[in-house]
Amino acid sequence: MANILVVGCGSIGRRHLRVFRANGDHFLGGVDTRHDRLDQADGEVKLDAKHKNFKDALNDVKYDAVIVATPPHIHTEIAQFAAESGCHLFIEKPLAMTESGLEKLYSTCKKNSVICYTAYCYRFIPSVENLRQKLEQKVVGDVLSVRLHISSYLPDWHPWEDYRTFYMAKKEEGGGALLDESHGIDLIRWLFGEVDWIHAYVGNVSELEITSDDISVMFMGMQSNVIVEAHFDLLGRIPRIGMEVIGSKGTLIWDRINPSIKIYDAESSKWSEEKFDADDTVQSYDLQVEHFLQCIKSGSQTRNNLKDGWQTLKVLTAALESNKTKKVCKVGKVS
Ligand SMILES: NC(=O)c1ccc[n+]([C@@H]2O[C@H](COP(=O)([O-])OP(=O)(O)OC[C@H]3O[C@@H](n4cnc5c(N)ncnc54)[C@H](O)[C@@H]3O)[C@@H](O)[C@H]2O)c1
Repeated sequence: MANILVVGCGSIGRRHLRVFRANGDHFLGGVDTRHDRLDQADGEVKLDAKHKNFKDALNDVKYDAVIVATPPHIHTEIAQFAAESGCHLFIEKPLAMTESGLEKLYSTCKKNSVICYTAYCYRFIPSVENLRQKLEQKVVGDVLSVRLHISSYLPDWHPWEDYRTFYMAKKEEGGGALLDESHGIDLIRWLFGEVDWIHAYVGNVSELEITSDDISVMFMGMQSNVIVEAHFDLLGRIPRIGMEVIGSKGTLIWDRINPSIKIYDAESSKWSEEKFDADDTVQSYDLQVEHFLQCIKSGSQTRNNLKDGWQTLKVLTAALESNKTKKVCKVGKVS
């Protein structure tokens, strides 16, 4: 049993609360600047404590872990305060909007033995784990090139609210295709190693009334020499999330929406297909919470720690720099 505080009881925060409630006899606290959101969470999981703000919450109750599920622009501030209080951290992606404050956060975590998990949950999707094993077994030979797409229509995301008021529409709160779909960057790092350089377009091409980017198209060279094309957008009228891995002996196609992996084997000229549960992605939310609880219990590093989330942010930062300078940019390395 652990005392868990969820800061930000919006869409994903409430999902995390439901998963923690179903995963053991935890004391669950909630914070949201919107009372309606807190009441909604209370109605769903029966909160053990409701707090006005995260500072009061951490002063009033001895929490073991804090789940940071607010918009990205305040992730670091909340995480820093929680780490100073000795709480383990589960921080929603993207880790932050900028690298500012991450050095300090890292040293506080180290000093206070705080376990940190950056919630890039694609690493826990069963079909992704299967894909990772297939690549390790070289089912398509050596990987030469990868094409990744994450496309959906922002106004369809949260039918209960006007998309223009959702933080995703606001650049200053960390919305936009690049930061939000950075799952894709984490995914290619997880599967193909570190990104060496990037050339990116990050901007707007649709009629959506947003200040954040509605499209981000990237061309990357991995340290392994694999070439990756990635396309993230908030304007595609049909949701499409998937990846094509072109190898020396065939091609592999992963589809997250209709979960499946298709493989073309060049030697036999045959296709094979494996299908996964329709709730493949939903399972990742349960699996990441189980993993986090296990890590804080055993004191071990998480599958996606602070430095990992930070390295993904370095790729995003380089993408923004490339968009500004119209040049290929080297991706820095977290020391
Ligand atoms: N891993 C995933 O699959 C996944 C899915 C959805 C969202 N996310 C991430 O989760 C975060 C939140 O996204 P969302 O879709 O739940 O957004 P949301 O707008 O539905 O919820 C955010 C909540 O945070 C609250 N909030 C804002 N400032 C606050 C503060 N200072 N203190 C307490 N509460 C505050 C808002 O009132 C809102 O209820 C983002 O970083 C997003 O990228 C991750």
